[in-house]
Amino acid sequence: MIHTENLTKSFGDQVAVDRLNLDIAEGEVFGFLGPNGAGKTTTIRMLTCLIAPTSGRARVLNYEVGRDDEQIRRNVGILTETPGMYDRLSAYRNLSIFARLYEVEQVDYQVEKYLKLLGLWERRDDAVGEFSKGMRQKLAIGRALLHEPQVLFLDEPTAALDPEASRLVHDFVAELKGRGRTIFLCTHNLDEADRLCDRVAVFKTHLRVLDTPGRLRQQVYGRQVAFHLGGPAELFLSQVKSLPFVDQAEAKDAKLIVTLDDPESRNPDIVRALVGAGADIQFVGELRYSLEDVYLQLMKEDAPAAG
Ligand SMILES: Nc1ncnc2c1ncn2[C@@H]1O[C@H](COP(=O)(O)OP(=O)(O)OP(=O)(O)O)[C@@H](O)[C@H]1O
Ligand SMILES: [Mg+2]
Repeated sequence: MIHTENLTKSFGDQVAVDRLNLDIAEGEVFGFLGPNGAGKTTTIRMLTCLIAPTSGRARVLNYEVGRDDEQIRRNVGILTETPGMYDRLSAYRNLSIFARLYEVEQVDYQVEKYLKLLGLWERRDDAVGEFSKGMRQKLAIGRALLHEPQVLFLDEPTAALDPEASRLVHDFVAELKGRGRTIFLCTHNLDEADRLCDRVAVFKTHLRVLDTPGRLRQQVYGRQVAFHLGGPAELFLSQVKSLPFVDQAEAKDAKLIVTLDDPESRNPDIVRALVGAGADIQFVGELRYSLEDVYLQLMKEDAPAAG
């Protein structure tokens, strides 16, 4: 659905996006993560034909960026970082203007559908200039969908939203995915990415990693199991470390944290060894790192060494 080959954008002698290679499948929700200034918005702007790449190529829906820009614009929806609206006009007028621009066939039907879906129907006659940030954002999401695009680019869709409105957007994204849309999502909300995305990329001018959230966790942290004991875990540390299948183990107060390739088959052996050595095991559980932990760890590795 989206394919890039060495896609590059420079501004003067500053490279914002450096030889990006992506392959995003139809129906996928793809999370594009990275710090401020990483080049995420620049990437979206290239893929939606708002700015031309410096080099490399990209295809969206099998249309070539730079050659089939008109078709791409017709078939993608984009929520930009700062969506412009006509402030003096009503929400309804705003959407109908954009619907006509996109040559939507049933303008009134589509405008009503999205105003209702996004909970703005009651406010349809109010000037957008009087809307709160979150209401504007919802309206902008509706605007991006009026022409029922196959591919949707969302640049920080929940940045200004309260938890309830964010949930609405999340459910909405899940629903769009259910209907087979492909979604390219830039976000700083890592929980959001974790919940919604099939795969995520961590990007900072270059592509750093790309995988499912689950595999990234495993790649960065391995699988770790915590054995909660009745007393100081230190006492049993060397014994557990000596087990041949244990990669790593550490004691933290009453917790023994063990890194393992295959906890399902190895935990029973560890439990037996601990019980044999006289430990009281209160409970056993796998440690679950958040995508935020993974992201911060990757960024830490990325930082230039101090000194
Ligand atoms: N039109 C432009 N002219 C010059 N430099 C630009 C332009 N647009 C972006 N840049 C630069 O390109 C780099 C990437 O910017 P971009 O907006 O893509 O980052 P981002 O990943 O979207 O960041 P954020 O998370 O803050 O939105 C930045 O250093 C920015 O200053
Ligand atoms: Mg941005």
